[in-house]
Formats: sequence, C-alpha cells, structure tokens
Amino acid sequence: KGVNDLDKVVLREVRGSSAEVYLYGGHVTSWKDEHGDELLFVSNKAIFKPPKAIRGGIPICFPQFSNFGNLEQHGFARNRVWTIDTDPPPFPVPTTNTAYIDLILKPTEEDLKIWPHSFEYRLRVALSPGGDLMLTSRIRNTNADGKPFSFTFAYHTYFKISDISEVRVEGLETLDYLDNLQDRARFTEQGDAIVFESELDRIYLGTPSKIAIIDHEKKRTFVVRKGGLPDAVVWNPWDKKAKAMSDFGDDEYKRMVCVEAAAIEKPVTLKPGEEWTGKLELSAVPSSYYSGQ
Ligand code: BG6
Repeated sequence: KGVNDLDKVVLREVRGSSAEVYLYGGHVTSWKDEHGDELLFVSNKAIFKPPKAIRGGIPICFPQFSNFGNLEQHGFARNRVWTIDTDPPPFPVPTTNTAYIDLILKPTEEDLKIWPHSFEYRLRVALSPGGDLMLTSRIRNTNADGKPFSFTFAYHTYFKISDISEVRVEGLETLDYLDNLQDRARFTEQGDAIVFESELDRIYLGTPSKIAIIDHEKKRTFVVRKGGLPDAVVWNPWDKKAKAMSDFGDDEYKRMVCVEAAAIEKPVTLKPGEEWTGKLELSAVPSSYYSGQ
C-alpha cells in the first residue's frame, strides 16, 4: 500500500507506550501506556469505516460542534478520509524522541457545497518519550474570495475508566456551563468536582487550561491540558441514551467519560491567510503522583 492508502498509523515510543491514528477521521483510536494498558475507550460495537464516525477514541468535531449550525452533527472532519502530510510546514519542534505523524484534510468539491470555505487542516499526533499524547490542530483559511469563515471545534476524547461511579472531574468548579439536557440553559457549577449519577451533557465555559479526571478504583488520573480551546464538554450518555446508540453497548457507559477540549461559545473566525492553533495534551499518571497543582 502507498502511504495514503493506509487504514491507520501506529506510533510507538521506546519505553513501550503507543498510539494509533486512523486516516478515517484523522481519528486517534488507541493510546496505551508503557505497560500496554489502553487509556482511551472505544466501543466494542464501533465501526471503523464511513459513513459514521468511529465510536470512541478522539473524534475531531470540525467545523461545527454538535448541532450549533446547519451542518451534520459535529461537522464532517470526523468522517472524511485524511491523508498523510508528507511535507508539513515547520511546526514548533517537538521534544526529541517524540514519535509523531502529520495528517492533512482539505475540502473536496462536495464538502465545499455544504460548507463553502476553502481550508487546510493540519493535524499532528505525537507521543512523547514519557507517553503523553499530544494533538496539535492548525487550521488555515485558504479562501481565494477574500471571505472569513467561522467554526466551532472539539477534541471529543473518550477516556477509558474503571467505573463511572468511581470517577470525578476536577478543574471546572464554580464555572458557568450550558446544559445540553436543558435546552442549553446556563447554570453555574456548584459542586467541588463533577461526579456522575445520571446522564450528563454540559459545555463548561472559559475553563482553566488544565482539567483532571480522577479514577479512584484504578488509582489513575488523566490530566488534560489544552491551548486555544476555552471550553470543555463533559458527557456521559448513561443507560437510556446508551441503548439508543446502535454503535455503543448497553453497559459501556460505565467504562467511559468524555471530556472534550473545545471552542464553542465563541466561534473561531479566520480571515483568508490566517491560521488557528488548538492543542490537546493528555497524560495518565498514578493518582498518588497527582497533586492537583
Ligand atoms: C457530545 C455531545 O459531545 O457528543 C452530546 O455533547 C452527544 O450531546 C455526543 O450526544 C455524541 O455525539 P455523536 O454524534 O458522536 O453521537
């Protein structure tokens, strides 16, 4: 197969961690620590081909998050076949020994009919020597007609957890959020941390750049760091919505939580020639190492 006929690219780091990226969706479907433990949730019922996005891993929501506009839910980037970018322009150089792959997505004629904006979307997926997973998105307006465009965005990360009742999310305390389960009404978070007792689907606004997902049973903490992405979506479908999803097992909601670095409330606007960068950095550490700082 030629490089651009591959289904997926596997990144391996010398100490044993690894990641897999499907060209379909520019979609990270696996991230394993140095012991080979999977850190991302992918449904047993996931389908790894068009037309639907892969259920799990890190779908990319672009150029629209959810139904905030006229496009299909979460935009089209997550169900297009990306190509390997063999000649990326200079990126800020990653740490030495970082394994990485560069992908690119440009709109087809068909895409331009549904979203009439020419763009180049470059995605770098990198695995640091310590096993951290880093995604960098660079989106450029290449419109020749002089028109700006606006988009909303999310890295729709599905974290694999031991049990949803053992998990809490820290870093979103006291923030305002839009509740997707209540017509996107605005509320202020009152809890010390987010815990899960039923379906939850919220867009937290203007969050700190660091969020922690603490899995008590597994004694593992995921640390999410983000750049250029002010908002954060927290989602668990719970039992009823799980049953309604054909590519998701009825009980799988217990083993996943989505915490999504996003730009939703204030869409990003790019003039022709302008570029936006959105970064996601994920680490998984033993909870005893995590100080919360
Ligand atoms: C979340 C949304 O980001 O994605 C939810 O907040 C939505 O409302 C979920 O149900 C899954 O979306 P999809 O299109 O992948 O089923």
